[in-house]
Amino acid sequence: MNISNMTMPDHLWRPITQHSLLAGTTPRKIVKGKGVWLTDNMGNSFIDALAGLWCVNVGYGRKELAEVAAHQMEELSYLAPVLSSEPTVAFADKLQSMLGFESHVYFSVSGSEANETAFKIARQYHLQNGKPGEYRYKILSRYRAYHGNTLGSMSATGQAERKMGYEPGGAGFVHVMPPYPYRRHEKLTVEEHGAEMVKLMEETIIHEGAQTIAALVMEPMISGGGVIVPPECYVPGIRALCDKYGILLIFDEVVSGFGRTGKMFGHQHWNTQADIFTFAKGLASGYMPIAATVVKAEIFNAFLGKPGEMTHFRQINTFGGHTVSTAVAMRNVQIVEDEDLTGNSARMGQYFRDQMIAEVGDHPFVGEVRGLGLLTGIELVEDRQTKVPLPEAKLNVVTGAAIQSGVFLGRNSNTIPGRCNVLLIAPPLVINESETDQIVAAIKKGLTAAMG
Ligand SMILES: Cc1ncc(COP(=O)(O)O)c(C=O)c1O
Repeated sequence: MNISNMTMPDHLWRPITQHSLLAGTTPRKIVKGKGVWLTDNMGNSFIDALAGLWCVNVGYGRKELAEVAAHQMEELSYLAPVLSSEPTVAFADKLQSMLGFESHVYFSVSGSEANETAFKIARQYHLQNGKPGEYRYKILSRYRAYHGNTLGSMSATGQAERKMGYEPGGAGFVHVMPPYPYRRHEKLTVEEHGAEMVKLMEETIIHEGAQTIAALVMEPMISGGGVIVPPECYVPGIRALCDKYGILLIFDEVVSGFGRTGKMFGHQHWNTQADIFTFAKGLASGYMPIAATVVKAEIFNAFLGKPGEMTHFRQINTFGGHTVSTAVAMRNVQIVEDEDLTGNSARMGQYFRDQMIAEVGDHPFVGEVRGLGLLTGIELVEDRQTKVPLPEAKLNVVTGAAIQSGVFLGRNSNTIPGRCNVLLIAPPLVINESETDQIVAAIKKGLTAAMG
């Protein structure tokens, strides 16, 4: 096979795709979306069980969002972010009232940028607010977590397969193991395991030198790294460590915000606040690109100084706080609230996991079904005793068979070498019982196909 002479089906470079496998094929084109459904150019319909990239929270085809966008484009299509537009100011107010504390919001376009922004704010905050003898620049994060694709956010990411070939990244990024109840030491209870992992974090802080650490970034619940629900004590335990050692805590709620986990925000499961929050995905349900970095007032205030002091935040994003994106995001968030999509996420997520456990809970490949709200991971193993991960080729059989049954599933591809064995299910929050049943049936069929 002469790879260099392969004729590609088109000129699109798709992410996380080996294009040699597409040579000579005609990739499916999706032409329409409605609710949880996608339709291709041949008229076939599929349930999108990953809501795009877990972002289409309000479902596809919302006419009211298209109308808001069209109206805003006519009124004021764009404004330089140093100026203030009506929708952008209003949406910053809305976010701060939803979070329930005095804050300021810096808008950007993607989750990666929102995290980069958070890291830069944290470093500058300490420079302007730090104690003598401190030089806080390091960012702590956890293995398995994904924080983005730009050099800084990639450096914080704890997934080796997303970084190989692109490193070295930025300096000063340190990774620590997260809790992983399914693979904990067998002698520990889940809570004891959680306490051990908090201790591991503390040891890391001590050994790095707390006075060098600016921030700790974490998703309240790891999503792309395999949906890992932490023990109850873990998130509050990390908050306490950050307080003890003067480290800013950043919650990456790019996935877990806006109803995805069955609460409006992921951190609400553990009643724990961060100092900085980052959001993207469900913020406008993918109808427009938008991301936000929200900081508590105390952090914002450290950037208030005299003109010429360079104490202000010296970053700009051309499309940050876009008038159309913020107008659409405002309406999108109102839909999540008005239709109680957070409640539906909690109910349907639980229903889905209960059905999965009833239907395939004792299947030889099913290691664990776990999650919160409409964010579920199903860890597949070759052997339920040894927990050896199911090979990727078999996961491909499961997802391929699910497509034949009309369901697009997700999985943690190209994350941890040899550990890309978790199916990811996070459909739009509007899903109903019968659509959920179809996902369960498709996974069941897929597992049967993978048995061979
Ligand atoms: C938890 C988390 N943070 C950050 C990002 C990066 O967001 P984006 O792809 O919009 O840059 C992602 C993307 O999947 C994510 O899952």
